[in-house]
Amino acid sequence: MSRKLTVNDVEYTLDTEKTLLENLESQAINIEFHCRDGHCGACRCQLLSGEVEYINYPMAYVRDQDILTCCSKSTRDIKIKTY
Ligand code: FES
Repeated sequence: MSRKLTVNDVEYTLDTEKTLLENLESQAINIEFHCRDGHCGACRCQLLSGEVEYINYPMAYVRDQDILTCCSKSTRDIKIKTY
C-alpha cells in the first residue's frame, strides 16, 4: 500500500524504506541539511500530521512540533512543512 508524503500542501508518494530527507531529495524538494545524522538540526521541518520513527536518536534540539528528516522514517501518511 502506498503512502503519501505531503510537503507544503503538495502530495508525493512516500517511500517508507527511505528517510524523509531521502524522500524529499528524490522529489527534488529543496531542503537544507549538513550532517545527515541528527546532530546539526539543519534538516528540521514542522510535522503537521502523522508520526515518524527515528533511526538514530536526534542529538540536535528539536521543538515539539518539529522533526529531523535526515534520521527519521514514516510508515504512515505524513504532512510536513519546510522552513
Ligand atoms: S542534516 Fe543535520 S540533523 Fe539532519
